[in-house]
Amino acid sequence: MERDNIQAMSGYTWGEQPDSKTVIKLNTNENPYPPSPRVAKTLAEISADMLRVYPPPQADELRDFLAGLHNLDRENFLVVNGGDELLRLLFTTFLNAGEAFGMSEPSYSLYPVLAQINDSPVVRINLETDWSLPRDFSQRLNNEGVKLACIVSPHAPSGSLVNMDILSRVVSEFKGVILIDEAYIDFVDPALRHDSTRLVKAFDNLVILRSLSKGYSLAGLRAGYAIAPAHLIKPMLTKTRDSYNINTISQTLALEALKDQEYAQNTWQKVRQSRRALRKQLISRGFVVPPSQANFLLAEVPDKCEHSAAQLLATLRKHKILVRHFDTPVLEDKLRISIGTEEQNAMLLRALDQIGLT
Ligand SMILES: Cc1ncc(COP(=O)(O)O)c(C=O)c1O
Repeated sequence: MERDNIQAMSGYTWGEQPDSKTVIKLNTNENPYPPSPRVAKTLAEISADMLRVYPPPQADELRDFLAGLHNLDRENFLVVNGGDELLRLLFTTFLNAGEAFGMSEPSYSLYPVLAQINDSPVVRINLETDWSLPRDFSQRLNNEGVKLACIVSPHAPSGSLVNMDILSRVVSEFKGVILIDEAYIDFVDPALRHDSTRLVKAFDNLVILRSLSKGYSLAGLRAGYAIAPAHLIKPMLTKTRDSYNINTISQTLALEALKDQEYAQNTWQKVRQSRRALRKQLISRGFVVPPSQANFLLAEVPDKCEHSAAQLLATLRKHKILVRHFDTPVLEDKLRISIGTEEQNAMLLRALDQIGLT
């Protein structure tokens, strides 16, 4: 009874979410530190009676807070039930069924799944070997008739950041609606002074995705938001999203987490430090690891290693350590490793040393 395109597709493959608390989870890029204590305190104060009535339909208190945080207007924000909801809304709102969707290859594996649901062909533009976007990225998408495109920066799964000049050029040259997926932006080194939100005032075709899952340690809550010119926010806010897409608990706790910038920034700083240290340690063991501005590293298994990346994944799992492997030609010899606590990273390195890479 499914539509033909739904029957033909296989759906998104999640990273494993184990039941056991003893497993070291470095497979789905969660923040290894707990959310702000303000979140725990407010959660304890939530009464069941609060849930009797519907939540504020447009999450306006959150939108106002975000407007202040990013120095934009309430009309530039849409709060969503996790960044994934925004991705789905972009297809529903801006891409006619059958019209082409564009993305870099590789990137977030949910994009092509959403395109399949929309019955849209996917135009994949291969990244350069250093994970950068090809110079003619937008032109090629335009030539293929692409009307909606996503770029992810910092890039998943390499962690490479697209700099502001390139972002501006890509957005200005692309003729459709373009998303900059910034699910991992909080982990970018502040010394780079990277801030794509100012592009929202300059371009009428740009949507930026932000997530509270990683930066604010709230993957289980499901909260994120879009930043975009008001004319792109409005149809999603008033027409295509579910009427009460953000539940009361999410709205309340997301606001607390966002208000505690100092706490969140402290976790980002710790992740950055661990990222630097872990990368150095992996490189010293022969892995090829490009610099990352995200909370994960993409580690190419050393040539001399007698295990393939898939075998290493399976062996690490026996040591109760989960990492991620993608079975595609460009990624099959690599593991994506989320940055854990210092202790978790040390346990990963110890396990690798026990397994022996030669
Ligand atoms: C590149 C990218 N974009 C968006 C998301 C969506 O995040 P969430 O729905 O948890 O906010 C993820 C989650 O893993 C991601 O990796």
